[in-house]
Amino acid sequence: MIEEPPHSAPKLQAQPQNPTRKTAWSGRFETLPSEEVERFGASLPVDKRMWREDIDGSIAHARMLGSCGIITPEEAASLIAELEDIRTNIEAGTFTPKHRAEDIHMLIEAELTQRLGDLGGRLHTGRSRNDQVATDLRLHLKRRLTDEHLPLLLDLRAVLIEAARSSKKIILPGYTHMQRAQPILLAHYLLAYVQMFARDFTRFLAAREAADVSPLGSAALAGTSYAIDRQMTAAELGFSAVSVNALDAVSDRDFVLDALYACSVCQMHLSRICEELVLWSSTEFGFVTLDDSYATGSSIMPQKKNPDFAELVRGKSGRVYGDLMALLTVMKALPLSYDKDMQEDKEPVFDALDTVTDSLHILVGMLDTAHFHKSRMRTAATRGFAAATDLADFLVQQAGVPFRQAHEIMGNVVLYAIKQNRLSLEQLSLDELRAFHPAFNQEAMELLDPRATVAHKTSEGATAPVAVEAQLTKSQACLEADKKLL
Ligand code: ARG
Repeated sequence: MIEEPPHSAPKLQAQPQNPTRKTAWSGRFETLPSEEVERFGASLPVDKRMWREDIDGSIAHARMLGSCGIITPEEAASLIAELEDIRTNIEAGTFTPKHRAEDIHMLIEAELTQRLGDLGGRLHTGRSRNDQVATDLRLHLKRRLTDEHLPLLLDLRAVLIEAARSSKKIILPGYTHMQRAQPILLAHYLLAYVQMFARDFTRFLAAREAADVSPLGSAALAGTSYAIDRQMTAAELGFSAVSVNALDAVSDRDFVLDALYACSVCQMHLSRICEELVLWSSTEFGFVTLDDSYATGSSIMPQKKNPDFAELVRGKSGRVYGDLMALLTVMKALPLSYDKDMQEDKEPVFDALDTVTDSLHILVGMLDTAHFHKSRMRTAATRGFAAATDLADFLVQQAGVPFRQAHEIMGNVVLYAIKQNRLSLEQLSLDELRAFHPAFNQEAMELLDPRATVAHKTSEGATAPVAVEAQLTKSQACLEADKKLL
């Protein structure tokens, strides 16, 4: 599409001023940076991804200049037509600029000037690259969050809700400290992630809102003496508001950090569910089988099926956090207003946005095709004394035993069972239980079935089928409401 500048051998010598190598600022210079130095300062390889937004921003600016009488309506119309033509060329893959340019803003302006002569040079009236780059980046983030992250999070929640709906009868052990704790419904587990991804949606929405302010017309830092109409450009570009302070508008990148933070938390949530898919697909757990299309084999061990993609999503949290840290560090202690350091904002945010988009995509497909193993989960739920808390609760509720005392009694029961080499409380007889407390009866024995344990957890947000049904209704309603916010 847009070619990167050629990566030629370093030329360390500064180059004398040469009329064929003009830049937008070369008027004040006697020598120009060497090609190597120039390349070091260039951001085109990264910011060329903002070409759409740069053209949109320039068109809005040109139209406003024409409408405010700063250039003639005919001049505005020519600029707009030529910018549209450049857009068509880029889209068609026929854009072959001849100029070396520092960034996408300079490249498009240089192309415009080559095509239109002096008129091209009028576009930058009342504008600086400082407000231009901030405008482009805000538009770019808004577009990508709207087209990628927000809808993908809706898809992921829909897949998880669907999986929860079809797994209402599956019981597995819930864990704390990676030790079997209490039996829960698989639907209860899946709906926990739905909550996390619903909050991620809200974080991305907030990041989009933070980006939704127009800096265009702030010029370099002080505003401009031209009678521009900032409301007009903001409205044309679809911004909800106009920035209040020009100095802030060109130096603020906290809207980028908001997006990076949303990406980091989302990738952290993804890493947790992926970690569980990795563990659960091991022979040791055997709770889930990932579809072959989301696994790879080993080049040496023919029997292996590796959950590579879940691992990779987990691993990619490192780079997303790194992206957030990189920009926080770039911005720390930067004096107002624009400093070239800020050019380092795009690479991390593009990387984080790409990584989260890809990861969300992968996970939607992986979960949609995963197979959960009911009997393995159920067996695991009965092993490991998971009913101990319920029997303690039984003593509290049926025999008025204080909970601490009931806890101690059940601790003794578990210790006894372990010493007797029993794998679960189900393997104890009623007489054996009675030796620890006379209140134990047939009803207590029924609690040893994980289905009964689960059925008793009916409090709001709990794991009983009736409580999970309520969670499903709420999760679905929240999903529907969020769809409307997109
Ligand atoms: N390429 C620059 C960036 O990404 C554009 C802004 C340049 N402004 C300037 N005053 N040098 O930050």
